[in-house]
Amino acid sequence: MLKVSDLKKSYGSHEVLKGINLNVATGETVVIMGPSGCGKSTLIRCINRLTEPDSGKIIYKGIEIDQLKEKELLELRKNMGFVFQNFNLIHRLTVLQNVMLGLVKWGWDREQAETRALKVLEQVELRDFVHARPADLSGGQMQRVAIARALAINPDLMLLDEPTASLDPILVGEVLKVMEELTVQKDKSLLIVTHEVAFARRVANRIVLMDQGVIVEEGSPQNIFENPQSWVGRRYKEMIEYH
Ligand SMILES: Nc1ncnc2c1ncn2[C@@H]1O[C@H](COP(=O)(O)OP(=O)(O)OP(=O)(O)O)[C@@H](O)[C@H]1O
Ligand SMILES: [Mg+2]
Repeated sequence: MLKVSDLKKSYGSHEVLKGINLNVATGETVVIMGPSGCGKSTLIRCINRLTEPDSGKIIYKGIEIDQLKEKELLELRKNMGFVFQNFNLIHRLTVLQNVMLGLVKWGWDREQAETRALKVLEQVELRDFVHARPADLSGGQMQRVAIARALAINPDLMLLDEPTASLDPILVGEVLKVMEELTVQKDKSLLIVTHEVAFARRVANRIVLMDQGVIVEEGSPQNIFENPQSWVGRRYKEMIEYH
């Protein structure tokens, strides 16, 4: 459903993505891993053009994303949920309003939007917090709101950029649990950047390892973590053995 070919992005003379090729099939969960600064965020942000790529093709269900005009791009983003490391919630709005906002923006009437928002908040186990404001929530709860917001529109593709990286380790589990539940929904594809090795090993259909703007290795979790071919893969294998 998603096919990225020869994607390149530079900032000044710094070539951050050096020609990335990546496919994601319907229902597939792909986890992207790699050292800090290797270009993971840039890659997933280029997919829905939160970051503008310099060149390359991004084809999503037959649509050439790289060619879309601003208006078409906004329309396309209805089918893609994006979850950020730092949640990006609107602090003056309640949990319910945060989740409803996008739906109302997409033209849903308020009643429908509220019903849908309550349903996804239930899914992430936040039904009791719908009238709270983000400031009253823990980081894990805030991230679950952000996931509910991304889910609300029922996207085919979810892009998650280190959704647990800024959480207290005690709260990571509750967010991983919600994400794991998403991976079993076979109508959704997930592209997740994370350093959570145990999670990746358990839920990923495929692991993609990046280093310095290129994909250095990809394969099943078993292949990558047991018999890595790349330097990056060997580092992750060591991490597992150390634990
Ligand atoms: N807007 C920007 N302007 C200039 N350089 C940038 C910009 N965004 C990213 N970079 C640089 O591009 C490189 C890749 O950044 P990116 O955020 O994609 O890495 P990452 O793999 O997501 O790292 P991390 O694991 O720390 O999140 C880094 O060297 C970063 O400094
Ligand atoms: Mg990043």
